[in-house]
Amino acid sequence: MFRRQFEQTGPTGSKKRIFARTLGLFRPFTGSVALLVVLIAATAALDLLPALIVKGMVDAATAGTEASGTGVSGAASGGALTRINLLFLALVASVLTSGVLGVALGYVNQAIGQGVMYRLRGDLHAHLQRLSVRFFTQTRTGEILARVSTDVNGVQGAVTGTFTEFLQNAITLAVALGLMLTLEWRLAAIALVILPLWVYPTMRVGQIQRRLMRLWHEENAKMSAHLEETLSVSGVMLVKAFGRQTHESDRFEASNATLRDLSVRRMMAGRWFNLATGLFGALAPGAVYWFGGRAVVGQELTIGSVVAFAVLTQRVFQPFAGIARINTTLLSSLALFERIFEYLDLPIEVEERSGAQTLTTPRGHVRFEDVSFAYASGARNAIADINLEVRPGQMAALVGPSGAGKTTATYLLQRFYDPQAGRVLIDGHDLRDVTLESVARTVGAVMQDTYLFHASLADNIRYGRLDAPTADVEAAARAAGLRSMIERLPEGLETVVGERGYRLSGGEKQRVAIARAILKDPPILVLDEATASLDSRLEREIREATARLAVGRTTIVIAHRLSTVLAADVIFVLDGGRIVEQGRHAELLARDGLYASLYREQFEADILETVADEVAAALEDRQPSRTS
Ligand SMILES: Nc1ncnc2c1ncn2[C@@H]1O[C@H](COP(=O)(O)OP(=O)(O)OP(=O)(O)O)[C@@H](O)[C@H]1O
Ligand SMILES: [Mg+2]
Repeated sequence: MFRRQFEQTGPTGSKKRIFARTLGLFRPFTGSVALLVVLIAATAALDLLPALIVKGMVDAATAGTEASGTGVSGAASGGALTRINLLFLALVASVLTSGVLGVALGYVNQAIGQGVMYRLRGDLHAHLQRLSVRFFTQTRTGEILARVSTDVNGVQGAVTGTFTEFLQNAITLAVALGLMLTLEWRLAAIALVILPLWVYPTMRVGQIQRRLMRLWHEENAKMSAHLEETLSVSGVMLVKAFGRQTHESDRFEASNATLRDLSVRRMMAGRWFNLATGLFGALAPGAVYWFGGRAVVGQELTIGSVVAFAVLTQRVFQPFAGIARINTTLLSSLALFERIFEYLDLPIEVEERSGAQTLTTPRGHVRFEDVSFAYASGARNAIADINLEVRPGQMAALVGPSGAGKTTATYLLQRFYDPQAGRVLIDGHDLRDVTLESVARTVGAVMQDTYLFHASLADNIRYGRLDAPTADVEAAARAAGLRSMIERLPEGLETVVGERGYRLSGGEKQRVAIARAILKDPPILVLDEATASLDSRLEREIREATARLAVGRTTIVIAHRLSTVLAADVIFVLDGGRIVEQGRHAELLARDGLYASLYREQFEADILETVADEVAAALEDRQPSRTS
């Protein structure tokens, strides 16, 4: 049964499912919802009470007038006065109580709405963190942000609005109609004839508003994606470098104008709706007085009943409209929930299987067995049938032309993705059999484009080990060759690096990343060397830092420097996702294959640099005063 429902593709089937799932969100709040229902029923009933009290007052007044008019007794009119006074007190009391209950209702309502939102936001964030890197390479960041913030905020309105409003309306309507029918069924019949005339325009407006709302949310997500892209540091630099400010303004202008127009249209639809409500609100009591007046003349009704009826009629339209619109308000709230559920339902590709093992003391033995991987189904393999082994403590170098799959191989080792075929093993365990935490703890990486948070240098380094004492952070920074830079900065390690570390140079950023890895101290280190050539002094500092980092652990370096390939225990040469050669530098050079030609292209220039480097180093060592 459930399964059939799940497979249903029709819109109603899926809507039902979304609705059921939305209701499920309220399960933790069952108690509060019950209280809310009680409060709503109480306020709805109290809101109708004044109509009855007014009826009592008017009837007492007319009775009193008749009594004094016929001069029957002063006591009768005196009794009427007391009655009117008491009824007035009752009116005040009912209005006050209703007001106080209204405050309580508002609180409970908010508590539920915000509670649901709080959980949704938390679940969404947790789920997004578990999604594979693939999702983030395919989705615009701004779009994600819009869903987590704007859409979830919309949910709060939907919850507090739709749900409470519906209950409130249903109860008010039921009680009011009941009262009307008991007071005078013929008058009630008038109201019942007029009311349905009103259903169509109300529903129509609701539909329009819902469509406009959906468009608004889509456009808003687009706009925030655009903002995120063009107003981030890299984005701003790209726009400026190509002088595309006008182009970007135009793109923004389009979204901006659409949002403006959609909002105006939505507001206007609301205005037309209000106009309709106003008209009916004004005309319906008129009709009641007309019919009721005639009935009073015919002595069939008391004036009080007619007045009460007029009040009730006015009170009936609003809730009736709400109920008529319930379909559309519900659908537009469901559309919001749908967008959120859509994200919550994104499959987690890289998942920890139940019973996954923890790697307690990993030795750092890395193996790829017949590993093939493509970024998308149908795309060509970025990694094809790779077999490789790096023993604990060894240093392996990956070399190959751009796009050969070197970075991809390191992604697989960090389990950013799972291979489509073959296995990636650490210490003989398939990565899919160990906990994600184990992998993250065992493998540390300094990637091609270093990412830093907008925080202090110290905090960025401490990301490697959150509980590291300041002394360790400083030691890591020193070991990464950051000492001179930190001494130069007025705030030292507490200097904030700016978004993505834009206040640091490329070399400095990479050394911060190295410091982070030193602090983390992983058994397996992945290093994607910077391709940009650095000045020889910096080059030497980074080389020394990475050499220190490589000691006592398995290291896999994507090598762009001669010194690295010379130091490597084993070199894997990749081309088109395959390992085409492997061995040590001298052997590979002797084979005169791809490695030899890469060597001539990439590394030979390094030889001169290395020599110059050695000379510079020797000079610096001889004259320490120049550097310090
Ligand atoms: N997220 C992705 N989605 C789809 N294809 C990708 C993705 N990332 C990389 N690729 C493709 O996979 C192939 C291997 O890319 P990879 O980044 O591993 O190359 P690389 O050897 O590290 O190159 P470089 O030396 O330029 O850094 C390339 O053809 C690339 O276009
Ligand atoms: Mg790369």
